[in-house]
Amino acid sequence: MCGIFGYCSFLQEKDRKTVCDILVNGLARQEYRGYDSAGIGIDGDKPGEMYFFKEVGKVAGLRKKIAESDVDTSKTFISQVSIAHTRWATHGPPSVVNCHPLKSDPDAHFIVVHNGIVTNAVALRLVLQKRGYKFESETDTEAAAILTKYIYDSQTGKKPTFTELVKQVLHELEGSFAFVFKSSHYPNEVVTARRGSPLLIGVKTEKKLKVDFVDVEFAGPESDAKSNSALAPPTSPSGLLAPPSNPGMLRSQSRAFMSEDGLPQPIEFFIASDAAAIIEHTKRVLYLEDDDIAHISGGELHIHRLRRNEEGGAPQAQHRTIETLEIELAEIMKGKFDHFMQKEIYEQPESVVNTMRGRVNFDQARITLGGLRAYLNIIRRGRRIVFCACGTSYHSAIATRAIFEELTEIPVSVELASDFLDRKTPIFRDDVCVFVSQSGETADTILALRYCLERGALCVGVVNTVGSTISRETHCGVHINAGPEIGVASTKAYTSQYIALLMVALQLSEDRISLTERRNQIIQGLHALPGQIKRVLDGDKGFQELATGVLANQRSLLLMGRGYQYATCLEGALKIKEISYMHSEGILAGELKHGPLALIDENMPVIIVMTQDSLYPKVQSAYAQITARKAAPIIICNEEDEGIPKGCQTIRVPSTVDCLQGLLNIIPLQLLSYHLAVKNGFDVDFPRNLAKSVTTE
Ligand code: F6R
Repeated sequence: MCGIFGYCSFLQEKDRKTVCDILVNGLARQEYRGYDSAGIGIDGDKPGEMYFFKEVGKVAGLRKKIAESDVDTSKTFISQVSIAHTRWATHGPPSVVNCHPLKSDPDAHFIVVHNGIVTNAVALRLVLQKRGYKFESETDTEAAAILTKYIYDSQTGKKPTFTELVKQVLHELEGSFAFVFKSSHYPNEVVTARRGSPLLIGVKTEKKLKVDFVDVEFAGPESDAKSNSALAPPTSPSGLLAPPSNPGMLRSQSRAFMSEDGLPQPIEFFIASDAAAIIEHTKRVLYLEDDDIAHISGGELHIHRLRRNEEGGAPQAQHRTIETLEIELAEIMKGKFDHFMQKEIYEQPESVVNTMRGRVNFDQARITLGGLRAYLNIIRRGRRIVFCACGTSYHSAIATRAIFEELTEIPVSVELASDFLDRKTPIFRDDVCVFVSQSGETADTILALRYCLERGALCVGVVNTVGSTISRETHCGVHINAGPEIGVASTKAYTSQYIALLMVALQLSEDRISLTERRNQIIQGLHALPGQIKRVLDGDKGFQELATGVLANQRSLLLMGRGYQYATCLEGALKIKEISYMHSEGILAGELKHGPLALIDENMPVIIVMTQDSLYPKVQSAYAQITARKAAPIIICNEEDEGIPKGCQTIRVPSTVDCLQGLLNIIPLQLLSYHLAVKNGFDVDFPRNLAKSVTTE
């Protein structure tokens, strides 16, 4: 959902073509996040001048537009700063005018790219319009760009530094966001800030950095005064017409970037919403925290805070670590596959192993989750466990709820994050809240997490993306280690979340002798799982035939099952609707006679999950109810099940332990949804109206 990319090169000769290529590639790597238009803002030929390229649709269209333009692509820059963006429309439709970067005025004194939503943009727009400022776009972002110019222009005497200026702007903005600002008043400087939306900065140098952290420069109290409203009347002594405040820095070094000999060294910085956009340039990255303001200028990166520590708040870290990313570029490339989704479905035999690697000891039938070790007893003493997530991540919690309750004997509830917040669910200090998220950046899940943190609950993260907000803000947790998931439809993250949650339940129950046999049985099941997933994948041709045969041209598809397989049906239906745009519903087979049975006749396509567990007889009865009404369901059943009536269409899967069976049953449904989308010519990796990382409520 919206992607930011910024590129700053210092003392490195770069021609304009290279700069544009770097920007456009940075956007292309973030395409999976979901977007509907893209744009870049780069330095022009004359000092202070800027050029813009914007296009509705794909990044490839923007690339073409740049290639066909008549700007001099051979012009070189010793140092330059440029910014780029993929926009996912919220305020105003996808259009060139609404595309970022947004300008403060026709001469583009300030330009801005922005993720998230400025919730008081309407009020700001009205105030600025009253003061004579003209708006071109319908976006909330333009209010931020124009506000920046207004604050700058209002200051007589010594002008503020770029950081001070942006700080004053941010004090006026409400909502959650990430910004990058560039200005003709501050050539070769860029300021970027986050509150709620992810942002990271990659650093590339020839020489090794002196230290692997950047000090946070805390401002004195006077510069934090929120009452210094930028929109106070111009005559107000406390308003921005007053001279800029003394920044009163307590620390002002950027030790990492100081060269041994005191001479400035060539350096490049890459700003992005996602590490995937950076790793082809550098693996050295620094994650910004909420309310951080990063200023890049003269080859140095400085980090400031928007406000001082709130009284009573947790102490703030004194520095931001420059970490080394472990992902490889190849991991985010499609390789031999046609789509990322297909690649990610096929990766599952390895991704589930990665989730278990170093954590499951198959010989001793033991689980060790390092990130939870210190908290196990607190969790065991909790009076209930509340899972909180959205979409596929929510389904992984539904899938493991029963085994969690069985192994831990702690009551478990599973909450959709948005509804959890809407209901203002009561949460107490002895609750354990588990936040499941692939991206770690889903706005509803983050808000639910903060809600639980405020109420003193122990908050546990089950997250794929290292360094993400949820992984940083939870007390403890488990990284699912599924590797980058690029396709918007979540596939390998689901199976890895499922296993990670199961491992948590197994570890929590290790002190229960009576459950040893059950635990051993599950751990042995986990051992066989990667091979079994491979076997299901081998049947892909059959799933493709279903998609192009009996299921082709259908308008609807019902999926039914019960017990562990209810989650399989919900998740399978979500996959089908989100990428093939076919109506699909996951139905709890026990609920059939309470309503859904009315939908059943010979024309209604149905898939019924009938793998053999303790509920098998009950699913057989659901099967009888629907076939009595002339439905001809496709049956997902075990390879060796001979009880399936002759002549039925089946999808055969290997059998495993009841609580693991959903991991195998979901694979044919993932592939079926994939083939249905491909058959209809839909954009599998970028389904309409959806984004990979939903960073707005
Ligand atoms: C569906 C899908 C979404 C996500 C949901 C939560 O295929 O991907 O339903 O599961 O938006 O996202 P995360 O897991 O990143 O919090």
